[in-house]
Amino acid sequence: MKPESLNQTLKMMWQNYLQLNPDAQKIHQLFAERNPQLINDHIALRTFDLPQIDIHRIADPFIKRGYVAAGEYHFPHKKLFAQHFLHPDPAQPKLFISQLLTGQFSPSLQEIVRQFTAHIDSSESRQSGFSYSGRHWPISYQTYQQLEVESDYAAWVYAMGFQPNHFTLLINGLKSHPNLSAVNQFLLAQGFELNDSGGLIKGGPSELLAQSSTRANLISVEFEEGIQRIPGCYYEFAYRYPQADGALFHGFVAESADKIFQSTDRQRS
Ligand code: NI
Repeated sequence: MKPESLNQTLKMMWQNYLQLNPDAQKIHQLFAERNPQLINDHIALRTFDLPQIDIHRIADPFIKRGYVAAGEYHFPHKKLFAQHFLHPDPAQPKLFISQLLTGQFSPSLQEIVRQFTAHIDSSESRQSGFSYSGRHWPISYQTYQQLEVESDYAAWVYAMGFQPNHFTLLINGLKSHPNLSAVNQFLLAQGFELNDSGGLIKGGPSELLAQSSTRANLISVEFEEGIQRIPGCYYEFAYRYPQADGALFHGFVAESADKIFQSTDRQRS
């Protein structure tokens, strides 16, 4: 079998992501109609810190096709670690890959994660298509809820498997809207719901990065017990500011990402 090119992999990731996030297609269309081109700033992937599926393993097929490890980020409250990866061609999206630090959770969460991830064949996780391969295990709603008590992130990966969690529109590249607040107002006026945890805009000029995101659509997922509506993926918007040397900042801001992670949390009243 001929290995996938990087662009083929990214295209498949985008198509899989759109299936889980119907709003992204509509939003993409709204901006595509108003701009000559749209730039995807980054793609976010989620996993666990187990050797056969950890950040290194998920990143490996991308590293083989030119990506290089850049920044590292710690999220002590959510018990996550993340790294971002850059491609030498600045037109390619950055990758932001996070992993849950399973050892910091209860023995029962660790056991659940160990059991369902044991369904993954170790050769599968080396292939370029792994990052859009979805779930490799059957799912029960009872287990989903049990995971959710400890970690929304763990429950999300259990239900969705290996899928892009979000794509990100780079606002700097837009002709239609000058800044993130104009984008947010436009999306709200179009009826989309935005994540307001920590305010609509996370970060700003002093962090060199401002971000906002939609709230994940609820999607129907078939569990052993039947279909349930649970949070899927979301769409993110990023505005990058120039650094002292004039080049745009290409990193991430842990404090902002911490709030952005909550875009897939279930709304609790
Ligand atoms: Ni992001």
